[in-house]
This record gives sequence, structure tokens and C-alpha cells, in this order.
Amino acid sequence: MTVHFIGAGPGAPDLLTLRGRDLIAACPVCLYAGSLVPEEILKHCPKGARIINTAPLSLDEIMQEIQTANAAGQDVARLHSGDLSVWSAMGEQLRRLRELGIPYSVTPGVPSFAAAAATLGQELTLPGVAQSVVLTRTPGRASAMPEGETLANFARTGATLAIHLSIHNLAQVVESLTPHYGEECPVAIVWRASWPDEHVLRGRLSTVESLIDHTLQRTALILVGPVLESEDFQESSLYAVGYDRRFRPQSADSPFASSTDEEGGA
Ligand SMILES: C[S@@+](CC[C@H](N)C(=O)[O-])C[C@H]1O[C@@H](n2cnc3c(N)ncnc32)[C@H](O)[C@@H]1O
Repeated sequence: MTVHFIGAGPGAPDLLTLRGRDLIAACPVCLYAGSLVPEEILKHCPKGARIINTAPLSLDEIMQEIQTANAAGQDVARLHSGDLSVWSAMGEQLRRLRELGIPYSVTPGVPSFAAAAATLGQELTLPGVAQSVVLTRTPGRASAMPEGETLANFARTGATLAIHLSIHNLAQVVESLTPHYGEECPVAIVWRASWPDEHVLRGRLSTVESLIDHTLQRTALILVGPVLESEDFQESSLYAVGYDRRFRPQSADSPFASSTDEEGGA
């Protein structure tokens, strides 16, 4: 018996990996985080599967469901929204499973920041503008931020910020970032990226609060940084004519004719 943690993606049911789909289809039990996982994904469950929305359950109750499946020798598909590596509450479940000696696997999903960038048609790292993306949030009712992980500290780097779980804190976001990025810095907010009711707002730190539709409350990503409107960025060396690299050695004498290159891309 194995508990398969599966990233269910940002919302659109076809933004699920093939591996995730096949695992769901092979598990007689499915536990899904109903607040953000689209119900349409559940159609991949086998006929007769036990399907449980864990949104109203406590961690103890979730673990009880898993232990019941374990006693029956039934594999479990455990679905969380987006990818599992950020704000999925997977860590505490894995710790309990390790204590109980129950095996698990982890299958990644499309994270919401990637879906939001896709909606915007935007690369978040542009040469000479920003080469880092900070996935962060502001403090919530149940989650304080560790000391040092402040928006102001991240803003000092000039990186692109992808701010989760914070649409209700927009005023605080603007106040913290304006001294570092300036009032004219572009901001994009994407609500429910990839869902049918997706909504996008583009503005600046100085205008975004007055432009926002306050009826749109939950499930939004706030992206901030100069990349959001840069057109005069450098082209990357990767595809530059004459750039010597492993996949395009420029001569028989090139050190890359038979060695490795450090760059990604492709
Ligand atoms: C509990 S976290 C889950 C993050 C998820 N594990 C991921 O990989 O993106 C929920 C937050 O993620 C962001 N989020 C999740 N899905 C989203 C979507 N489809 N569009 C925009 N933001 C989304 C919002 O900031 C939301 O408040």
C-alpha cells in the first residue's frame, strides 16, 4: 500500500500530469483538497472509488482515512492544488506517514505561479532585468513569517516577486514594496489562473489598489517586478550567433566539441 501525493495543478483539469492521472486511475481511495482541486479531475478515479473531500477534515481525521486504507491494503491518491512543494501541507502528512511506516510517493504538479505567468504570456526571468523569482506570502491568521522573510528584504534584491495567499493584504504589499521598486513598478494580479473564471489586472504599485475589484477576494497571485513590462532586455547568450556551447560548438577546436555546458534553456 502506498499514499501517492499528486500535484493537481492550478485549476484547469487538463493541467494534470499524465503520471498523476494514471496514479489517480489506479487508486481505490482518493483524498482531495476540495477548496482548490477541480472536481473534474476526480473523473479519473476508478469506478467505485472512495472519494473524500478533505477540506473540512482535521489532520488527525485525514490520517485516520489513510490508516483505514492501509489496513485494507488500498493505495491512496492524495490530491493537493498546484505543486506539492509549496503551501500544500504535505510536509506534516509525510512526517506522520514516516512515523507510521506507511510508504508514499510524490508526483509534482503545475504550480500556480507558472499558470499565472502563462496567463500573462510572461517570462519571469529576463536577462539583465531579473534572474530570480521569489515565491513568498505575507503573514496569515494561522501562519507567521519567519524573521527575515519580509517583503522589504526580498524587494531589496530587485527580483520578481510571486506573492501568494495575500490578496487581502494588498495595501500592506504596496506599502512594503514601493520604497524599493518605486511607484511606477508594474504589478499583475491573476485570480484563479487557468480556471474558466480567471481574471487579470495589470497596474502599478501606485494604481493597483484603486483598480482592484474588491469582490474578487480569494485565490489570486500578485506578481511584482520590472520584468512585467520590460521590452528592452538583452537577448540571452544561449541562442546568440557565434556563442560557443555544447549543443552548438563553433569549431572543431571548441572546448565544447566534446565537453559540457553550464547553461539550461534548449
Ligand atoms: C494554499 S496555496 C497553494 C499553492 C499551490 N500549492 C501552488 O503550487 O501554487 C493557495 C494560494 O496559491 C495561489 N493560487 C493557487 N491556485 C491559483 C490560481 N489558479 N490562480 C492564482 N493563484 C493561485 C493563491 O495565492 C492562493 O492563495
